[in-house]
Amino acid sequence: MTEQISEGLSETTVAELRELAARYPQARSALLPMLHIVQSEQGRVTAEGIEVCGQILGLTEAEVSAVATFYTMYKRRPMGTHHVGVCTNTLCAVMGGDEIFERLCGHLDVGNDETTEDGRITLERVECNAACDFAPVMMVNWEFFDNQTPESAIDVVDKLRSGETVQSTRGATITSWREAERVIGGFEDGLVDEGPAAGPASLVGLEIADQRGWAAPPLDASGTEARPESTTEAVAEADTSRAESETVAEQTDTDVEGGADLQESEGVDD
Ligand code: FES
Repeated sequence: MTEQISEGLSETTVAELRELAARYPQARSALLPMLHIVQSEQGRVTAEGIEVCGQILGLTEAEVSAVATFYTMYKRRPMGTHHVGVCTNTLCAVMGGDEIFERLCGHLDVGNDETTEDGRITLERVECNAACDFAPVMMVNWEFFDNQTPESAIDVVDKLRSGETVQSTRGATITSWREAERVIGGFEDGLVDEGPAAGPASLVGLEIADQRGWAAPPLDASGTEARPESTTEAVAEADTSRAESETVAEQTDTDVEGGADLQESEGVDD
């Protein structure tokens, strides 16, 4: 039977916190997912959640608090049903992120890190989500909404507030922030395969490499990249590699936007 060490967190949640701690050779490595599980039940990292995590991991409350207050994904104030994060980092900002954020503030009548009166939406400026090739990007419960405009962003939040089913531009069905937190904490919801793993803009480099026959350097027996044995050898390899690339580039005027089929021109079979 689960020892009752908390009155607020359910026995199920405490059991899941213990399960996470047991997944790692060093139990304290589980602190990050454990804090997400606390959020999935309590809507934020509570003082109680900090205490319970500390008890399970043998950490002081100060140590747990230091982690919980360092990362922006951990919230100390109650969150709305949905977390809407607008990227206003440099690229997204100049591509329209700043305007999207301002328009949403006006439309929802909230400021940064504030929740709408109906409790449905918490709006936040967020940092780069490593999706700059789809700028400007908006996240809902950490699912991507690519290439947004003020109008498309307003449409999304209106649907979320009215309870309509919403899908991210990459196909994932939007659940609630708390449900997403449980998944981030390490308990799958069965929706992991919804949508593609990478969008077209992220695959352009791969397409170019495929067309030009480029590949990563081979690994040696230890699994690390085989290194040239001397500076002279490294320079020779680099020169050869550059010459090969230039030859390929001269043989075709192909680029991703159009032009001759490189594989055909080189007679390369699939
Ligand atoms: S700057 Fe917005 S995703 Fe990178």
